[in-house]
Amino acid sequence: MKLGCCYYPEHWPEEWWAEDARRMAAMGLSLVRIGEFAWSRIEPEPGHYEWGWLDRAIDTLHAAGLKVILGTPTATPPKWLVDTMPDMVAIDGEGRPRGFGSRRHYCFSHEGYRAEGRRIVSALATRYGKHPALAMWQTDNEYGCHDTVLSFSAAAASAFRGWCAARYGTVDALNAAWGNVFWSMEYRSFAEIDPPHLTVTEANPAHWLDYRRFASDQVASFNREQVAIIRAHSPGVDITHNFMGFFTEFDHHDVGRDIDVATWDSYPLGFLEQFWFSGQEKAAYMRQGHPDIAAFHHDLYRGCSNGRWGVMEQQPGPVNWARFNPAPLPGMVALWTLEAAAHGAELTSYFRWRQAPFAQEQMHAGLLRPDSSEAEAADEVRAAAAVLAQIGPQVAAKAQAALVFSYEAAWVIGIQPQGQSFRYLELVFEAYSALRSRGLDVDIVAPSADLSGYAMVVVPTLPIIPEGFAERLAALDCPVLLGPRSGSKTTSFAIPEGLAPGALRDLLGLTVTRVESLRGGVEEAGAGDSGGFAVTRWREDVASEGLAELTDSAGRTVVSYKDGVRYCAIWPDRALLRVLVERMAGEAGVVLLDLPEGIRVRRTQDYVFTFNYSANPTFVPHLGASLTPASHHLDPR
Ligand code: GAL
Repeated sequence: MKLGCCYYPEHWPEEWWAEDARRMAAMGLSLVRIGEFAWSRIEPEPGHYEWGWLDRAIDTLHAAGLKVILGTPTATPPKWLVDTMPDMVAIDGEGRPRGFGSRRHYCFSHEGYRAEGRRIVSALATRYGKHPALAMWQTDNEYGCHDTVLSFSAAAASAFRGWCAARYGTVDALNAAWGNVFWSMEYRSFAEIDPPHLTVTEANPAHWLDYRRFASDQVASFNREQVAIIRAHSPGVDITHNFMGFFTEFDHHDVGRDIDVATWDSYPLGFLEQFWFSGQEKAAYMRQGHPDIAAFHHDLYRGCSNGRWGVMEQQPGPVNWARFNPAPLPGMVALWTLEAAAHGAELTSYFRWRQAPFAQEQMHAGLLRPDSSEAEAADEVRAAAAVLAQIGPQVAAKAQAALVFSYEAAWVIGIQPQGQSFRYLELVFEAYSALRSRGLDVDIVAPSADLSGYAMVVVPTLPIIPEGFAERLAALDCPVLLGPRSGSKTTSFAIPEGLAPGALRDLLGLTVTRVESLRGGVEEAGAGDSGGFAVTRWREDVASEGLAELTDSAGRTVVSYKDGVRYCAIWPDRALLRVLVERMAGEAGVVLLDLPEGIRVRRTQDYVFTFNYSANPTFVPHLGASLTPASHHLDPR
């Protein structure tokens, strides 16, 4: 795995560049990502390009033995461009234009902005497409960051009408699919359809789902335009996009298909603080991140672009954007780096080289402080680089477990949660954590992925069952687990004929007759012999014949079993997930580990990596030794 950093030559005096480059190489870095926000310096006046500084920056880095990942600058359209077409900005859900003065203020559907994007990307790709310093291209920056996938602009509304016409052919077909007879919502033509925001109460969920599908397609096609231009001018050079953490607003599997390497931006401490984790977990892992946060995304993004992936931005110290921004425990930056290698990453690049003393991110740590002295992470980068040099490139071992992840499922649950604690990402994350905490390697894959060759397949939930999916599950000869709400909706967001689980009915041998959601704090006991689980958040009544494997204290089915396929009819808590993982592993003949709190394992083809995420020294039974906090252990396989 190569190491790199994110660098902004335009932020620093040119006299510093050569020394920066020398120090980067000396620290063990070989890649530098540049350019992704530099539009105002590349084209300070309309049509007037200033290439000189960027030529010299790239040459300076190259002369020090570094290679460049060049970002297209479309996340930051300059002021003059916004002023020439003010309607290019996105409109938020409240109908307000997104203002100039930060970033990502464009609408994916604005044709004029798209043309400007193609122009600047063509100019950049023409100039640098064959430059010997070029290692990779990055398109834009973090599509969707700051809530920017959905826009409700006139451009988006008009593009959505066209999208609906292409999908449904006739407006009568759309009316029927959406159920628009309800509340007299019928349209007489596609031209009458607006985006689903600003309605008096909730808009039709079918309308929302199609709007989300449309918005996701707009992101994918925006990206595809850039990819096509880059490929034409820069044949053979890899293209990446840097995705985000815990982010489902567009279908990353779609975008991943068009690029060569899926990269993501890893901020484990910020994510722990901002997402659903309990106060206890936030305290225990404040300086390390929950032990599954980084790994979850490594395994998710490995499944997004044919197995090629990396970390484009790695947190090196406190960030500036979470509610609280603690410093990592000494050792964590090296641990995060090696963990990426253990999951098969091609690169880890730190954000950023030097902390900026000005503007929005002045409180965000870098590898250097603003005065150019080394920050705490620098030594850890050197330590990680030394280990990487010793072990060489690593390829992730094929995982024992496949976890099926669907962006569409996240939209369906988000549009109609039915119980506010039913959160898609949390459900998937908990299933992932249950597998990983028993020492299993996990591949997180799209519903369309090949599911053969795994010891077990887990589908935390999949409300809309894609064509052929039930048949593919039926053909597997390993244990399969499907979670609540699977098969509960049709493609057009309706209850299937014959009720849930729709297309899964034969596979599971049951019908869901009623669902209920439970408020926080309500816990109903499971049966005594089944591992101490409780019913929380969600329960389904299922009619099945003799298939109940686990029941609650009232005798109702909690888990059904038929021919190796289980259906879980409640929100599975950790105790229940533990029971289910043990049963499936037993049937598949897979040996589980009893990992202490905070210990995780990942196998490559050559090594078994063990990591200690705990803030305390921890005895690890399978090593017969203790690991100090924030440390790793390597065993050849
Ligand atoms: C990312 C972004 C970077 C920087 C970083 C700060 O979301 O891509 O440009 O803002 O966060 O943590």
